[in-house]
Amino acid sequence: MKNYLYLLSIFLWMPIIALSQQLKVIDNDKLMEIGTYYYPEQWPENEWERDIKKIKDLGLEFTHYGEFAWSTMEPEEGRYNFDWLDKAIELAAKHNLKVILCTPTPTPPAWLTNKHPDVLIKNSEGRIIQHGGRQQASWNSLVYRNYVEKIVTMMAKRYANNKTVWGWQIDNEPSHYSSFDYSDNAQKAFRQWLEKKYTTINNLNTAWGTAFWSQTYNNFEQIIIPNGKETLQKPNPHAMLDFKRFTGDAVSDFVLWQQDLLKKHIPAHQWVTTNLMADHSIVDPLRFKKLDFVTYTKYLVAGFDMGHGEQGFRMGSSNAIGFANDWFRNITGTTGVMELQPGQVNWGWYNPQTMKGTVRMWIYHVMAGGNKFVCNYRFRQPLTGLEQYHYGIMQTDGTSVSTSGEEYTQVAKELRLLRKEYNPEATAPKSYSDRKTAILYSTDSRWDMEHQPQTFQWDYVKHINKYYKILQSFVAPVDVIDETHDFSQYPVLIVPACQLLDKKLVARWKEYADNGGHLVITCRTGQKNRQAHLWNEKLSAPIYDLIGAEELFFDMLPEERTAHIKMDGNNFKWNNWADVVKPSKNTEIWASYSDQFYEGKAAVTRTKSGKGSVTFIGVDSDDAKTETVVLKKVYDRANIGTENLPEGVVMQWKHGFWFAMNYSSVVQTINIPANSKIIIGQKDLKPAEVVIWK
Ligand code: GLA
Repeated sequence: MKNYLYLLSIFLWMPIIALSQQLKVIDNDKLMEIGTYYYPEQWPENEWERDIKKIKDLGLEFTHYGEFAWSTMEPEEGRYNFDWLDKAIELAAKHNLKVILCTPTPTPPAWLTNKHPDVLIKNSEGRIIQHGGRQQASWNSLVYRNYVEKIVTMMAKRYANNKTVWGWQIDNEPSHYSSFDYSDNAQKAFRQWLEKKYTTINNLNTAWGTAFWSQTYNNFEQIIIPNGKETLQKPNPHAMLDFKRFTGDAVSDFVLWQQDLLKKHIPAHQWVTTNLMADHSIVDPLRFKKLDFVTYTKYLVAGFDMGHGEQGFRMGSSNAIGFANDWFRNITGTTGVMELQPGQVNWGWYNPQTMKGTVRMWIYHVMAGGNKFVCNYRFRQPLTGLEQYHYGIMQTDGTSVSTSGEEYTQVAKELRLLRKEYNPEATAPKSYSDRKTAILYSTDSRWDMEHQPQTFQWDYVKHINKYYKILQSFVAPVDVIDETHDFSQYPVLIVPACQLLDKKLVARWKEYADNGGHLVITCRTGQKNRQAHLWNEKLSAPIYDLIGAEELFFDMLPEERTAHIKMDGNNFKWNNWADVVKPSKNTEIWASYSDQFYEGKAAVTRTKSGKGSVTFIGVDSDDAKTETVVLKKVYDRANIGTENLPEGVVMQWKHGFWFAMNYSSVVQTINIPANSKIIIGQKDLKPAEVVIWK
């Protein structure tokens, strides 16, 4: 009997131990760990130990192998060669580096795609994407998945009990780099996806509104992927929305399927992630919640982001890393940055040098966002291939540290000091947590508005980031959430342009406000149902009771024209979008249109709702002045204090520390309380400098 109870106790404790190990690995008490990518397969073996030892000597703590090494792992079909990888992992172990091991699925070998060209994706022009780049294989190809299953299973079995393997990255930035897949694999999988969703073709015809322009289908086989290159006008918006949903499901399914393959063999403490671009594309991070956690990659300086002021193009915008932190952290509660730009890159519109100190500032911004680790692509600058001019930690000679490498090294040293001061149990100052704010992200709304923006000046990502930047200036901690989150934990909830919704969501918002929440709804919210149909009611009718106003119409102006609203006696400019509303009798008008044919009509309204409030912001401006004043009024009326940081300055509390970063192009003085202990930096920050205090 005793033996039976003993055995039972082991079985009971095993999952608890496994979970605690997993949580320990992910939620370590090292504040944040720092590492770099290394590609043994791209360097002479006699340089490996020199390089790997250097990674350690520079203070880095882990490295990352294998995401592009399939043709080295399996040079011919069925002939596997992992000896080189074994040696590279042994060298990492010898120098006390952990290893993130990757599945090599972004780059199938030439022998595979030559034998099975059907695994390749087809682009919107109908051209097959050939071997010679990367990400050329279709997630929907069963033939491809057979090869993936073999090599991933082989890796999992080989390295499951290797103590140096910290965790696994699946694929690399799984995406087709903003191309959709129109291959036969995708066509077939899309039809299957639709049949599973709609069951009957009549249900699909109703959902897609196919009576419009006689688009009615008789069966699922008639359906082809909507492709703007194959229709004279834009494709059916409902079909397009479903195709984006299908593609989002296809890429997440491909990654989660690999996680399942790994977890058949690897121990619980070897976590599994992938590294998504923190962009707003067809790869929807919210579809990866079943991963242990999701990491992101971030590059800010490549000619597309002018940042703040004269030298901002060398630092990027202050919201870029912050938004990514606050978005990805809320997908599973834990996140990391798998690639943080390591200095000058090669693929940009133009590729300027980063300002001295910028990489270090970015690393601290990553830390302030609660990331468990930060890594970069890559340790050595490549001498060959399409990324020859891409900085690494080391210069082209492999022995001289690059300018940005110096910055990684500096942070690695400072980390040891911060770890001594780190208190994982610290709680945020009350004034800070009192202004905790959620921004509700709606992927479907973004996808639908991208297809039908109504105006070339509409941009969902700019719209949502406008509010994010205002909250940064308030020094408000932000969570970027989705509908699955509990709204009640946030004093303020901002719902930007949630165009697609259902009446249950509106009821949840009402309940949130009635219970004391302060809800901010912006323009275009509630125009459509979940199938992107306009309501068979007045425009946006489901939100009228909630906002205490009725939508009359919306307007927009050409770029060359500017209109105005009046608020508290001041004039503000807009021209992107205007919802013109008629408030009900108990609703306050905070701003009215002060020109155009609808002068005097309401632009911004506020209504009490139970113990809370609902503010509706009907305009979308470029300068964010209207939105800033309105948000300030919301917090003031809610007796929630806010700061007022200058543009480009970020201040965040995390881990018991205050962090301030200066992305602006001028010296900024940070208001540090007299009794504070400055641990790193000083209160007068030059551009790209950081100060950390407690
Ligand atoms: C991405 C990829 C890397 C590399 C870098 C270049 O993040 O994941 O493989 O191409 O960009 O900046």
